Amino acid sequence: MRSIRIVGAGSIGNHLAHAARHRGWKVVLTDIDDGALQRAQNEIYPGRYGAWDDEIELKDARAASSDHADVVFIGTPPDSHIPLALETLEKVSPKILLIEKPLGCPDLSGCAELAAAAEKKKVFCAVGYNHCLGQNTILAEQLLTSGEIGQLQTITARTREHWRGIFNAHPWLSGPSDSYLGFSSRGGGACGEHSHAINIWQHFAHVAGAGQVAEVSATLDQVKRDGADYDQAAYLTLQTTEGMIGDVVQDVVTSPHEKSARLQGDEGYIEWHANYNGSGDMVASGSGSGSPKQVSIEKSRPDDFIAEIDHLAGIMDGRINSSPISLQRGLETMMVISGAFRSHALGRRVKIDWNRGYCPEAIN
Ligand SMILES: NC(=O)c1ccc[n+]([C@@H]2O[C@H](COP(=O)([O-])OP(=O)(O)OC[C@H]3O[C@@H](n4cnc5c(N)ncnc54)[C@H](O)[C@@H]3O)[C@@H](O)[C@H]2O)c1
Repeated sequence: MRSIRIVGAGSIGNHLAHAARHRGWKVVLTDIDDGALQRAQNEIYPGRYGAWDDEIELKDARAASSDHADVVFIGTPPDSHIPLALETLEKVSPKILLIEKPLGCPDLSGCAELAAAAEKKKVFCAVGYNHCLGQNTILAEQLLTSGEIGQLQTITARTREHWRGIFNAHPWLSGPSDSYLGFSSRGGGACGEHSHAINIWQHFAHVAGAGQVAEVSATLDQVKRDGADYDQAAYLTLQTTEGMIGDVVQDVVTSPHEKSARLQGDEGYIEWHANYNGSGDMVASGSGSGSPKQVSIEKSRPDDFIAEIDHLAGIMDGRINSSPISLQRGLETMMVISGAFRSHALGRRVKIDWNRGYCPEAIN
């Protein structure tokens, strides 16, 4: 039986616990806050999935930190991700170490150290950009690589979603300043929390062979309110090493949400949508003024995380040997997040020098 130790019994910790139990895995759910463990057992898990699962073991995170499991999952606030990941690699050697997004903070602290530690320990590390694993993404990849849209010209990606949904799922928080969400420097704000758009942009650029992001130009709408200090909207223009130019918008103010990407080729286009409507995702494709071919993909919220668990199982079974949620991809997204803050602060475009590693000195 596969096993997972989950660090952080909050919203994402419960999602992963449910998905792993759905696949029959042994689950140990841990937190440093006993109140969070109680809330998981009495409120979050039964509220979402109907009933608590007695097979899930609850444990203090500090007492469990040396416990072995096939997968260790870090589902805590972003500013604790890298310290906890390094501690895990130091103490145990799981088959997979999965870390939630965003990997860390815009100052990139610990990024280079984590890349080196993962390499040294030969542990497969991944970052939870699970949109890359969805059926909508797989279908869009197939269309992209089939040549149907010709040569890719540009990509536009959007994760625009008012964050009241996040606060509704965390009724114990009084507002943005009560959590990392209200602080860009801690991995919150639009750039960090909604970094799925940067990541899916990079993913499709990789699939198309368009290279890594080489230049970032960003304007951020920064807000200081009620003790919080965050970017509520981020507008990025990106250029890759192969010269492809496109854009990303992420914000925490748009309602209803828009989670989309558009891939424009010289002979057609692909539109990728996540949570397109109440019943799931959608991919549309077409060319010119002809009517688009639309494919709806039924999906529930738990399905996102079951797909993630299945992906991890595939890696452990040797069926999957190249992962779009690898640590390297998560680090690449961190570099663009960091580049966005640097570009905004300097009031100009910045370049990323990938030869210098995952550090602030690589962004100039
Ligand atoms: N991929 C997705 O779709 C998705 C969805 C939701 C959240 N997330 C990400 O998951 C992360 C956590 O978000 P959340 O909404 O679950 O937060 P949350 O506040 O609901 O839960 C975080 C939990 O971590 C615990 N914690 C903090 N420090 C800890 C430590 N050192 N050791 C053990 N536990 C610790 C807290 O007590 C809390 O219970 C964020 O990075 C967020 O962006 C991703």
